[in-house]
Amino acid sequence: METKGPIGVFDSGYGGLTVLKEIVARLPEYDYLYLGDNARAPYGTRSFDVVYEYTLQAVRELFDRGCSLVILACNTASAKALRTIQQQDLPIIASEKRVLGVIRPSTELIAHWSVSRHIGILATEGTVRSESYKIELAKFAPDCTVVQHACPMWVPIIENNQHNSEAGKLFIKQDLETLLQKDPEIDTIVLACTHYPLVEAYLRSLLPEHVKVVTQGKLVAERLEDYLDRHEEIKTKCSRGGEIHFLTSENKEVFDAQAKQFLSMDVQSEHIHF
Ligand code: DGL
Repeated sequence: METKGPIGVFDSGYGGLTVLKEIVARLPEYDYLYLGDNARAPYGTRSFDVVYEYTLQAVRELFDRGCSLVILACNTASAKALRTIQQQDLPIIASEKRVLGVIRPSTELIAHWSVSRHIGILATEGTVRSESYKIELAKFAPDCTVVQHACPMWVPIIENNQHNSEAGKLFIKQDLETLLQKDPEIDTIVLACTHYPLVEAYLRSLLPEHVKVVTQGKLVAERLEDYLDRHEEIKTKCSRGGEIHFLTSENKEVFDAQAKQFLSMDVQSEHIHF
């Protein structure tokens, strides 16, 4: 009999919970196993090699716990590690399993929303430096001007629950202003880091109405449903019990309290040691 397991969802920390929330809302029948590498977050300022090494470790952990499909709900990991894992590691460690990222599902759809054809990307340093959004958007929306701005403080601010503090808001406001100064014609801003939906409401309050703010959770959930429908061989390996389990490499009590805020549900995580 074929062994079934949960769908794995990975992020450097809490950010992936914003994606998990939307995936569960769209596909509640599946089981999920979330892994937050909170002890080593943020990934955004780390080198390519380190992000790759940490991400592969997380993917292996999720595979070992029965996942046949893992979503990297982290742009930094998707930008820096996904391709190498798909092309180099998977054929050796688990050729029947799959790892998917969050950049492609977002870039396929983003351009539909821009009227001015000027798109702004807010992301971590690692994602910006990888140029992944520019490269992908050049395929789907070659007529668009894409301007990026790295926000290295945002993930630490959000991980430490400081995004509603005056100091946290000041950093966020300054970065948003810098992006718009780079290109005042931007009418679509992509929150290209899965932590950033936590500051979406504040960003919207600072922006004129015609500027859209795009988050990834719903897009990824929609693309995942489509992927499962097109890949019956993976779909049949995903168990359906509607259960969600959580793993964190940090203090589990702290994770549970924070995750509860992200998901509006009680969370009881398990600590894992990397
Ligand atoms: N949520 C991750 C992302 O989407 C944050 C990366 C980090 O840890 O800096 O990029």
